[in-house]
Amino acid sequence: MCNSGTYPKPGSDEMRKLFRQKEDVVMLNHGAYGLAPNEILDYRIELLQEQEQLPDTWFRVKYEQNYSETITAAAKFVGADIADTFVIDNATTGINTVLKSLRLQPQDEILLTSHSYQAIKNTIDELQQTHGIVPRLLDVPLPIKSEDQIVDMYDKFLSENTSVKIAVIDHITSPSAILLPLDKILDVFEKHKVMTAIDGAHGPGQLKLNMKTIKADFYAGNFHKWGYTARSCAFLWISPKHKGKILPLVTSNCSHQTMHHRFSYMGTRDTSNHFTLPKAVQFYEGIGGLEVLKKHAEEIFSWAIPMLCKALGTKPLDIPDTMRAPFMRVIGLPPLPEKLRAIPADKLIVEFFKKSSIMIAFNSFDGKPWLRLSINVYNNNHDVEKLCNALVDYYQLTS
Ligand SMILES: Cc1ncc(COP(=O)(O)O)c(C=O)c1O
Repeated sequence: MCNSGTYPKPGSDEMRKLFRQKEDVVMLNHGAYGLAPNEILDYRIELLQEQEQLPDTWFRVKYEQNYSETITAAAKFVGADIADTFVIDNATTGINTVLKSLRLQPQDEILLTSHSYQAIKNTIDELQQTHGIVPRLLDVPLPIKSEDQIVDMYDKFLSENTSVKIAVIDHITSPSAILLPLDKILDVFEKHKVMTAIDGAHGPGQLKLNMKTIKADFYAGNFHKWGYTARSCAFLWISPKHKGKILPLVTSNCSHQTMHHRFSYMGTRDTSNHFTLPKAVQFYEGIGGLEVLKKHAEEIFSWAIPMLCKALGTKPLDIPDTMRAPFMRVIGLPPLPEKLRAIPADKLIVEFFKKSSIMIAFNSFDGKPWLRLSINVYNNNHDVEKLCNALVDYYQLTS
């Protein structure tokens, strides 16, 4: 697909103006919370005004129509049947919904990896406290030499550990931005007859998804990260073989109606964020869709990553190129100057922003500090140049 012609070129000043970023701010951390373009935010405000003017009409009449358009767009975007797809707030809710509905028994095991997202680790720790579930962690050491290394690790683990009932598998890992070879991994799980819930927080918009062919049992993915919706908006896909087994976390007035009613109406709440999805998909497609976004990101990364690594005296995360996330890359950081060493990585994001007006993800894993760079349609090489200068300054590499 190519840019429809109604939108400016990726990386241009005009494209940047379609988003509500302040002039002097450089945003290189789209992967954290996403950004919605102005036209989507304006539409949400329209919906909010409509809701506020006549709440009864909104909830009793307009709701079903808005929901129907939203769920239709969601299912189409992720290649799913509407019957198996539910619009929810975020990936965390999706994975929680699955794990808490499954009625696992004490001593049943849930498998994660050393790169799993903290909220999911916490969810399983809670299930350990409340239900006696046993968390298991597959260590994915770095460097990764091949996709098969990961596939074989899962195979070996499942051969040796037969109490694993379900694994939560990241499609793209969070701090390390590793694109896991999902189809090959899912073949292994099929062989061992172990259920899988895919944490696809970074999937929709960054990867082409097809729920009709995926061998997973469940998939939770965010639209608000890479799909341009207002925050928060996500989906939970439930394989038809688990129909009726997974219930929303909240029981509402609609609990005797269809699963769609039950997932969409969880008591009175504002779901205008969800209802921005059909327009967000139009925006995504209008700017050219996945191909244009990938090309834009790749053009920037192919220059930016070697340039940054040279300036910092570091290397990119050592993984196969096929396992690099399309819109996010991770590079090593030099040891922090003494006075900054005690600052945790997430606080460093804010500290660095105060000094530089640049939003970028500092992370720490495998005992080392890392930088995760996100590229979206509004970014260009100047953003990365500014980042490079600010990092060199911050780390005093020239002194
Ligand atoms: C792999 C992964 N899982 C889950 C999440 C949580 O996403 P949310 O807070 O939208 O639920 C993230 C967020 O960055 C993530 O990277």
